[in-house]
Amino acid sequence: MTDRLTIRRPDDWHVHLRDGAMLEHVARYTARQFARAIIMPNLSPPVTTASEGEAYRDRIRAAVPAEYDFTPLIVAYLTDSSDADEMARGHAAGVFTAAKLYPAHATTGSAHGVTDVANIMGVLERMAEIGMPLLIHGEVTDHDIDIFDREAVFIDRTLAPLVTRLPELKIVFEHITTSEAVDFVKSAPANVGATITPQHLHINRNAMLVGGIRPHAYCLPVAKREQHRLAVRAAAVSGSPKFFLGTDSAPHAVHTKEAACGCAGIFNAPYALESYIAVFDEEGALDKFEGFASEHGPNFYGLPLNGGTITLERGATVVPDTIGEVVPFHAGETLGWKLV
Ligand code: DOR
Ligand code: ZN
Repeated sequence: MTDRLTIRRPDDWHVHLRDGAMLEHVARYTARQFARAIIMPNLSPPVTTASEGEAYRDRIRAAVPAEYDFTPLIVAYLTDSSDADEMARGHAAGVFTAAKLYPAHATTGSAHGVTDVANIMGVLERMAEIGMPLLIHGEVTDHDIDIFDREAVFIDRTLAPLVTRLPELKIVFEHITTSEAVDFVKSAPANVGATITPQHLHINRNAMLVGGIRPHAYCLPVAKREQHRLAVRAAAVSGSPKFFLGTDSAPHAVHTKEAACGCAGIFNAPYALESYIAVFDEEGALDKFEGFASEHGPNFYGLPLNGGTITLERGATVVPDTIGEVVPFHAGETLGWKLV
């Protein structure tokens, strides 16, 4: 039995660090575990221009304690009026690593998102030309589509046609939650990948709804049936280079989650690696963990692998009930691995 695992330093290819006091509070947790992270731009107002991206990157760097060697990778937030030249300029300047498509009103901070992909086709064509990845929150927002079906319907209505229309565009299907998403990504060309969160590996929708309503298990896309969790788990541990680590850590103060209309988002950054490795261990796939955590992401993005290593070993990690005003994923549980 493997009791200790040393891997190349990992990255988080999808995280919400927020701004202001919350950024000050949470930045350290991501920087403690990861060398780099793709930082989501759904601030209020969102990060849409290269100068806003640069200013946000400075605020993140200032919020990370000096002891950590951490690189934030900034993402542009696409709107109906995004400009291809601004995206290309931001990308060429090394400010924007990628751009994010939020369908308008799909989730937290998406009010300024895209109402129809046709409105940004010129921007996406330019991104395909320059090799700038498109990151997608893949859910439709139609009122007549059940929330548990919104990811699968998005594939049929938007994602599949987009991949056909722009076959060169690098696309990351973010935080996949369904067997349909797994199957789509597997059968798509090599320039289509996906991130997978810890929560979608650990919980199905029962965690949210059985024995009482549990707001800290609520995020978007919402956790689905068990058959979908099993499909996502199989993809994560498969060793396929198309699937990589992206926590979607999304902190919200406890009073905004424990409310009549609670916010979507799970704060998993503090123990993300301990959470992920538990899954690879349970699946007998510890040998696949380094690829998922440290290699598939940079290879997909065309970025260098990190130098240096981290070590995880068997041992108790007790997850506290709260971290400041935020309830972490696995609150009150003991995980079986610890970061050395
Ligand atoms: O649960 C979520 N929270 N999903 C998202 O897409 C956004 C995120 C947030 O920003 O809180
Ligand atoms: Zn997210």
